[in-house]
Amino acid sequence: MKLIPRLKQSSIQQKFQWVAKPDKYMDSAVKQAPDMFIADIAGEDGYVFVNHPEAMRQIVTSDRHKFFASSKNNDLLRPLVGDNSLILIEGDRHKQRRKLLLPPFHGERMQTYSKLICDLTHNIISQLEPNQPFIARQVTQEISLQVILEAVYGLQDNQRSAELKQRIAKLANIFESTLTSAFLFFPWLQQDLGAWSPWGNFVRQQKAIDEAIYQELATRRTQDNSQRQDILSLMMSAKDEAGEGLKDIELRDELMTLMLAGHETTATAIAWALYWVHRHPEIKTKLEAEIASLGADPAPMEIAKLPYLDAVCKETLRIYPVAMLTFPRVVQEPTELMDYKLETGQVLMGCIYLLHQREDVYPEPLKFKPERFLEREFDPYEFFPFGGGKRRCIGEALAKLEMKLVVATIIAQYDLELIDSKPEVPVRRGVTLAPKTGVRMMFKGKR
Ligand code: HEM
Repeated sequence: MKLIPRLKQSSIQQKFQWVAKPDKYMDSAVKQAPDMFIADIAGEDGYVFVNHPEAMRQIVTSDRHKFFASSKNNDLLRPLVGDNSLILIEGDRHKQRRKLLLPPFHGERMQTYSKLICDLTHNIISQLEPNQPFIARQVTQEISLQVILEAVYGLQDNQRSAELKQRIAKLANIFESTLTSAFLFFPWLQQDLGAWSPWGNFVRQQKAIDEAIYQELATRRTQDNSQRQDILSLMMSAKDEAGEGLKDIELRDELMTLMLAGHETTATAIAWALYWVHRHPEIKTKLEAEIASLGADPAPMEIAKLPYLDAVCKETLRIYPVAMLTFPRVVQEPTELMDYKLETGQVLMGCIYLLHQREDVYPEPLKFKPERFLEREFDPYEFFPFGGGKRRCIGEALAKLEMKLVVATIIAQYDLELIDSKPEVPVRRGVTLAPKTGVRMMFKGKR
C-alpha cells in the first residue's frame, strides 16, 4: 500500500493559495499527485483531496463505519448557518433531519415552482434598461433569491419579503471578494470592529435577519398554516417519532442554510451558463432552435426536458463546478482506498473541480462542449456537481430546474451580449467558484 502524497509547498503557502486562488492551487497540486493528495490547508493533518471516480464512489457509498459523513470540518460555515443546520449535524440526527427536509425538495414537488421561476425571470429581466450594461450574476442572484424566498419561506413579494431579500443578499455579498472570503477561513479575523468592518457588518446583518425570521415564526404560530405549501410551513408542522417538532432555533438555522445554500450556488451557476452560451454563438443558435421547436409559449416542464439545454447546463456545472469540494467524510478505521493507506481520523474531500477536469474522463477538459453529454453517459461518480451519498445536495432538483428555466426564458426572449472579449476567469466567492467580473453584459432589449 502507498502513502498519500503530500505537496511540496509549505502549509502556510498552501493555505493562502487555497483561499486566494483555489483553482490554481488545485491545478498545480494535481500535477504533483494525480488521483489524490494531502492538502495541507487545515488542522495538523490537512485534508485528503480525492478526484478519482472510483475513489469517489467508494467514499460516498461505503457505510458510515468506514467513511463517516461528519460535520466537524464544516465549522467554517457555522457563523453563517448556526449550530443546528443540516450541514452541521451528523449521524442519526442528520439522517432524521434529512428525512424531514427531503420530501418538499422532491423533483415532482419542484414542478409547482416552474411557472414562478419563469414569471420571476421575466419580471426581473424586463426591469433592465435597454442598451445598458449589467452584471449577470447580480440579476441571477435576484432571481434565485426571490425563488428561494417564495419556495422555502413562502413569502410573497411584499414589504417584509423585500426587506429580508435585501438583507440576505447583503449578507451573501459580504463574502463576494477573496479578501472578505478569508474571514470564513481565518477565525481570528472574525472581530466585530464596528458596523463598517466586514465582520461587524456581517454580525449586524445576521442579527437583523434573525429578528425578521423570529418575527415571522411567531406570526405563523398564531395562524392556521394547513393550506400553506412552502417548505417552512412543512418544517413547522413536521414531528419526529417522539411527536417533537423543530424548535425555533432549529428552524432559524435550517432556513439560513436553505436560503444561503440555495440561492448563492444557483445564481452563480446560471451566470456561468449565460456566459458560456454567449461566448459561443454556435451553441446559442443551437439552443435557440431547440427552444423554438416547442412552439410559442411552451409549458415549463417541456422546456426542462430539452436535451441540448440539459447538456448546456451539465457542461456549465462540469467545467467550473460551483461547489469545488464535497463536504468531508472522515475515515473511521485503518483502511485503503485504491491502494493508498488511510488512517483513522483522516478527512477526505471529494474534489469535484479536479474530477471534472480529468482528461481521461473529459477529453479537452478546458473546452466548453455540451455535446459531450449527448455523446456519452457519464456515471454518477464522474459527473458529481451535487455530491452523493448521505450528504448529496437536497436542492439538486430545484437547482437544475431553475437553471434550465431561467436560461431558456432569457435566451428565447431577450437579447444580451457579453461586454468583455477577454475570457471570464473563476475566483473564490465564499466557499464557491464564481466568475470574476460576475459576467458583464449589455441588455439589448426584448426580442
Ligand atoms: C447549482 C446549484 C447547487 C450546487 C452546485 C450544489 C452543490 C452541493 C454539494 C456539492 C453539496 C455537498 C454534497 C456532498 O458532500 O456529497 C451540497 C449539499 C447541500 N446543498 Fe446544494 N447545491 C446547489 C443548490 C442547492 C439548493 C438550491 C439548495 C436548497 C434549496 C441546496 C441545499 C444544500 C444542502 C442543505 C446541503 C447539505 C446536505 C447535507 O448535509 O445533508 N443546494 N450541495
